[in-house]
Amino acid sequence: MLKVSEVRKCYGENEQALEVLKGVSFQIDAGGSAAITGPSGSGKSTLLHILGTLDRPTSGEVSIDGKDPFQLSDPDLARFRNEVVGFVFQDHHLLPQFSVIENVLMPSLAFKRSGSLLQRAHELLKKVGLERRMEHRPAQLSGGERQRAAVARALINRPRLLLCDEPTGSLDADNAGAVADALFELHQDQKTVLVAVTHSQELAGRFPVQYDLREGLCSRA
Ligand SMILES: Nc1ncnc2c1ncn2[C@@H]1O[C@H](COP(=O)(O)OP(=O)(O)OP(=O)(O)O)[C@@H](O)[C@H]1O
Ligand SMILES: [Mg+2]
Repeated sequence: MLKVSEVRKCYGENEQALEVLKGVSFQIDAGGSAAITGPSGSGKSTLLHILGTLDRPTSGEVSIDGKDPFQLSDPDLARFRNEVVGFVFQDHHLLPQFSVIENVLMPSLAFKRSGSLLQRAHELLKKVGLERRMEHRPAQLSGGERQRAAVARALINRPRLLLCDEPTGSLDADNAGAVADALFELHQDQKTVLVAVTHSQELAGRFPVQYDLREGLCSRA
C-alpha cells in the first residue's frame, strides 16, 4: 500500500546543503502500521511530510496504492491528499478563528458528501474526549485538547493513510492512551494504514513494526 524507495531529501544548496534523508526505503502492506522513532532532528517530520505528499523528495520514489502521487498535477495532488491522507501535525495546525467542530469538519468541505458528516464529527470528538469542547476556539483549549481535536480532524474523511507526528506528545498518560486507542480503533475498523512518529516508547510499543530513523537511514528497530 505504501512503498518508499531510496528517498533522499536535501535542504539548501551547495556548501549550505543539508542531506536529511539519505536513501530511506521501507514498505507497509494494506492494513499495516508502523511507528517511526529516532533522535530529534533525524528527519522524522521531514519523512512524514513526504509520505503525506506535503513535501517532495529530492530523489527516490513514494508509491501509495500503487501510484506515485508526485506524478500528479498540483490540483490532482491536492485532491489525492485530501481524500487519501489524514495528517496529525506535530503542532496541531488548527485554524484559530474556527470552533473545534468547524476545524474537524474542515477537510470534508471539499466533498459534497451528504448526511452524516456532522454526526461523524460528533462521534470523533466524543472518542477523543472533547464532546464538551466542540464550540470552543483552539485558543480556549489546553495543548493536549488541541492535539486531540487535530486527531479528530485527521479522521473525518476516513483516510486510507493516516500519518501522525507525535500524536500523544503533549498528553498525560490517560489521554495519550485514549488518543492511541482512537487511532488504533480507526486503523482496525477501516483498514487504514497507520504511521506514527513518536518519542514515546509506550506508543511505539503498540505497533507491530518499529523503524528507527538515524543519520538519514531507516532500519527496523
Ligand atoms: N525547511 C527546512 N529547511 C532547512 N532545514 C530544515 C527544514 N526543515 C527541517 N530542516 C532540518 O532538517 C532536520 C530534520 O528535521 P525534522 O523536523 O524532520 O526532524 P525530526 O526528526 O522531526 O525532529 P523532532 O523529533 O525534533 O521533531 C533538522 O536538522 C532541521 O533543522
Ligand atoms: Mg518532528
